[in-house]
Amino acid sequence: MRLDKFLSNAGVGSRSQVKILIKKGQVSVNDIKAKSGDDVVDENKDVILCQGKRISLVKYRYFMLNKPAGVVSATEDNLDKTVLDCLSKEDARDLFPVGRLDKDTTGLMLLTNDGELSHNLLSPRKHVDKTYYVTCEYEVTEEQLDLLRKGVDIGDDKITLPALARAGAQTNELYLTIREGRFHQVKRMLQAVGNKVTALKRLSMGSLKLDESLNPGEYRALTAEELRDLKAGSIKMQA
Ligand code: URA
Repeated sequence: MRLDKFLSNAGVGSRSQVKILIKKGQVSVNDIKAKSGDDVVDENKDVILCQGKRISLVKYRYFMLNKPAGVVSATEDNLDKTVLDCLSKEDARDLFPVGRLDKDTTGLMLLTNDGELSHNLLSPRKHVDKTYYVTCEYEVTEEQLDLLRKGVDIGDDKITLPALARAGAQTNELYLTIREGRFHQVKRMLQAVGNKVTALKRLSMGSLKLDESLNPGEYRALTAEELRDLKAGSIKMQA
């Protein structure tokens, strides 16, 4: 595996951050200062230190993908490209998407092999915030925003929990933060207030924000800080 990939997968930082650490001479492989992120390391044998600390690949791996449209949130599919197909084979090993986005929805998708974190983030009892940027067919009125904030009847047993809703850059756009994950929830909420979603992008999940430098289809490992905050948030939400 490439050294820069090893370090970013281990949560040391993004690819560009670890390249800087290597350039500064802060990374060694078997006691020899590493020269470049392109160096190939054996993650099972080599002793890799960063700023004097031993770095090893952890059991669990965490990636954020900027999900492109046209890709399904599954681990395999006979017809469509899946979110795992956006990752290299090596990175995709054992991973699954945390929750589902519709095929035409874009934006933040967390991929991991950590079942416990996934469960904590998805459990309906935990009410993890998910923020979407929503583009609609028609103008989004103040009245519609108010209804979305209060909760709307989308045809289930219960009305939706109170949401955060604020106007977006264009009159037909809005930011919507929901704390549930019902099937097609955002689309059904907008339909319930007399509008229609034409594009949907997830911007955040809990404390994790989409890295806007990722183009659709691009992904990166979570940083140690992002992972720490996400885990801390999901534990707090359990209490
Ligand atoms: N709500 C939807 O309607 N679709 C998604 O993909 C996510 C939330």
